[in-house]
Amino acid sequence: MASRSFNRSWKPPLVRQLISPPVQRRTIVGLTSLSRTSRPSATLYPAVLSRQQARGVKSIDFAGHKETVYEREDWPREKLLEYFKNDTLALIGYGSQGHGQGLNLRDNGMNVIIGVRKNGASWKEAQQDGWVPGTNLFDVDEAISKGTIVMNLLSDAAQSETWPAIKPQLTKGKTLYFSHGFSPVFKDLTKVDVPTDIDVILVAPKGSGRTVRTLFREGRGINSSVAVFQDVTGKAEEKAVALGVAVGSGYLYKTTFEKEVYSDLYGERGCLMGGIHGMFLAQYEVLRERGHSPSEAFNETVEEATQSLYPLIGANGMDWMYAACSTTARRGAIDWSGRFKDTLKPVFNDLYDSVKDGRETQRSLDFNSQPDYREKYEKEMKEIRELEIWRAGKAVRSLRPENQ
Ligand SMILES: NC(=O)c1ccc[n+]([C@@H]2O[C@H](COP(=O)([O-])OP(=O)(O)OC[C@H]3O[C@@H](n4cnc5c(N)ncnc54)[C@H](OP(=O)(O)O)[C@@H]3O)[C@@H](O)[C@H]2O)c1
Repeated sequence: MASRSFNRSWKPPLVRQLISPPVQRRTIVGLTSLSRTSRPSATLYPAVLSRQQARGVKSIDFAGHKETVYEREDWPREKLLEYFKNDTLALIGYGSQGHGQGLNLRDNGMNVIIGVRKNGASWKEAQQDGWVPGTNLFDVDEAISKGTIVMNLLSDAAQSETWPAIKPQLTKGKTLYFSHGFSPVFKDLTKVDVPTDIDVILVAPKGSGRTVRTLFREGRGINSSVAVFQDVTGKAEEKAVALGVAVGSGYLYKTTFEKEVYSDLYGERGCLMGGIHGMFLAQYEVLRERGHSPSEAFNETVEEATQSLYPLIGANGMDWMYAACSTTARRGAIDWSGRFKDTLKPVFNDLYDSVKDGRETQRSLDFNSQPDYREKYEKEMKEIRELEIWRAGKAVRSLRPENQ
């Protein structure tokens, strides 16, 4: 789409207002009514503003469906400290989530310790982040033995591999925490059969652990899913929400372990990563085969999408993005969206089946349990990095003002 046509419909003051980075709102209320702005002005949206100031709303109407959402404002730091005053949070694994959640817990003043294997890369990374061996950094078994709440943030494949050693240490009174429903939901494949006498809960941040940390440091919070697999104490949900806030969530959307894992595996294979990469490649290849230059093909496929249009969808929704484009662009996009949907929907159904029946889980376990999985993964990344589209992208990005 020509940027000229895009610019023609551009409305600078409104656009600047509408695409400001979203701020963490104090309260979840009527999110559908807020969909057109992340910072409603009192002049433009008095009704919205007054509803925002109401507190404690838990049941939210999402497009006609009532859902439960928790907010961090109900769990100020003092309340968290009081709630977890007798707990030791043993966070096992220090990958992307371990790093983000662990540092946020520490900054929130929680009694958190890290458990990782001593010869692994994570041990060194944890030390670099200020975790001290023997004080708040231990090997996995020792951390679990000290913990009242065991936060299993090992890789999903490692959760399965280490389960025979971990399970006997999860004695009555402890709580088991996950950030993905993968291990318990697919227990026939993972063999993670949780003990029946402990609470089992989930907080799954909807983003990378790096974002969990960055948003926390900015004073904002990431959206997370929250769920209970097993409630022995009657306090499992409350504990999950409190932990979710303590690890840096802003809003916590109630779900189940099953729904979390199905939607997560499906989404990352679809629109979040796999599907979008496939679309990029298909569009780019056709442009190149039809005689367009690499820069033109890249700009029209990835650069304009990620730098201009997708942020607008993120800020204000699809209709707003359409409205900000030329009538020509809009007409064509509306016409073709139906054909793309009809063509892709069977693929998405295949994908959902493959998630639900465990094939995706099995593949992940098979691949990620191999001792040389990092080398194999790096080989695949090298192939992607060396595709023309991404080499062209590197050159295009180097021309961005901030990279000069
Ligand atoms: N990454 C995300 O964006 C994200 C988002 C939401 C939820 N989650 C979920 O959060 C959990 C953790 O994911 P992650 O991405 O943070 O971690 P990850 O990078 O997949 O896992 C890394 C951790 O697992 C450890 N590990 C791997 N194999 C091990 C083994 N055989 N024995 C002991 N430790 C082993 C690593 O230690 P070494 O350094 O010693 O190898 C490292 O500390 C998963 O359930 C994941 O699905 C992740």
